[in-house]
Amino acid sequence: MAATRQPAQTPQPAGQPTGRKDLGPLENLPRSPFVSFMQKASADTGHRTKIAAFLPVALWGWIKGYLSSRIGKKHQFLTYSTRKENGLYPLADESVIGGPADAKGEIRVGLVGDWGTGTDEANAVADRMMQLDPHFTIHLGDVYYVGNQDEMNENCLGIPPEKKNVLPCTWRVGSVGSFAMNGNHEMYALGDAYFDSFFKVLGMRPSVGADPLGQKASYFCLQNDFWQIIALDTGYNSVGIPIIEEIFQPNCHLQQDNIDFVQNVASPKGKSQGLIILSHHQYFSGFQKNFPKPAQQLQNFIDRPVLWFWGHEHRMTVYGLGSVNNSIKAFGRCIGHGGMPVDINEQVTPGTSFPALVYDHRPYSPPGENITVGLNGFAMLTFKANQLQVDYYDWTAGQGPLLTENWKVENGQLEGISITRGDTNFPAGHQLTVGPDLNRAIGK
Ligand SMILES: [Fe+2]
Ligand SMILES: [Fe+2]
Repeated sequence: MAATRQPAQTPQPAGQPTGRKDLGPLENLPRSPFVSFMQKASADTGHRTKIAAFLPVALWGWIKGYLSSRIGKKHQFLTYSTRKENGLYPLADESVIGGPADAKGEIRVGLVGDWGTGTDEANAVADRMMQLDPHFTIHLGDVYYVGNQDEMNENCLGIPPEKKNVLPCTWRVGSVGSFAMNGNHEMYALGDAYFDSFFKVLGMRPSVGADPLGQKASYFCLQNDFWQIIALDTGYNSVGIPIIEEIFQPNCHLQQDNIDFVQNVASPKGKSQGLIILSHHQYFSGFQKNFPKPAQQLQNFIDRPVLWFWGHEHRMTVYGLGSVNNSIKAFGRCIGHGGMPVDINEQVTPGTSFPALVYDHRPYSPPGENITVGLNGFAMLTFKANQLQVDYYDWTAGQGPLLTENWKVENGQLEGISITRGDTNFPAGHQLTVGPDLNRAIGK
């Protein structure tokens, strides 16, 4: 049933459509390079349906775009071996770059997945995240449709297109730094714009207010005495041989350099920090397929349960502790609802081993668009010594978190303290879907 959230709860992004891209053409975008190029060609003609890609005006654009972008070598996998940096960065406030210590003693990290759409909603998500003063911002990957240079310009770098009258969108950098992870859509155009262009505006700031120094590789670790956040690149091997990849889907395995980095540089095994893993692809899912290969590759180097955030599926879902094939045990959180039309109609896989304990499928109808999707949002991680708070927000300005988890770490072991709903005063039909065993989400 089509529905719009109560106006009191839902001021539209930036008041009215602002000239940024619409969500509608992105709806139901499948995870296929070939069809992504098709939908891009259709959207380039101003049409919203996939079938429009077969219009003569679009057909050549589709075929040419696919062939020119997908035929050729993937961008070189960048590593830290030839660079001055080793991929370890301080999980710290501005004092680490010569600024003042945070007044509340906190370190805030904003996480957003599947954000690179250039829509009003994506922009509103970024605005809302920045209202919370993050020291770091991290994109979990996916720039649409195919992450080529034009789309990187329009959706992430704030550079308007020459021929279209579209307001571009700009990724926001935290006060200490920012990183972007690799998704399958960046790789649909071989990763060139992601590695060569997006990296330039990311990384650590050398001093307060200065431009970042550039991101060096697609995997990294932020760490302090209490926590390690380890980011993996599952996007690089999410594409295979053109056309063949449509049938035999790649398993998103990690590059050996990424594995070596976890084993020898981040080296979490036997340490006392709480572990947080970030990846673009889901480790497991109650809705779609699992991607267990990266966890299998790392299972000998990670010796305790982790909190694992991923995107790729365009929804917000919180799971309990799970693992596939007895490899890494993870409290899974899907936050792929950063910028794409949020899928609120997909059915839970019958008999799934990974039931969603929290599922946000509140309906939202973008102004001027005849679709009903879910609300875009993000997660904010707030670290204070051995304490961690995870808040889940949508883009609604001025509204508090929808859900809050509190954790602490003792000798490397995560301990869930509490999980609290912030949505209970929302109108009926506009609340999170929460199972009766919510505390399982934090291991209680
Ligand atoms: Fe995505
Ligand atoms: Fe994806």
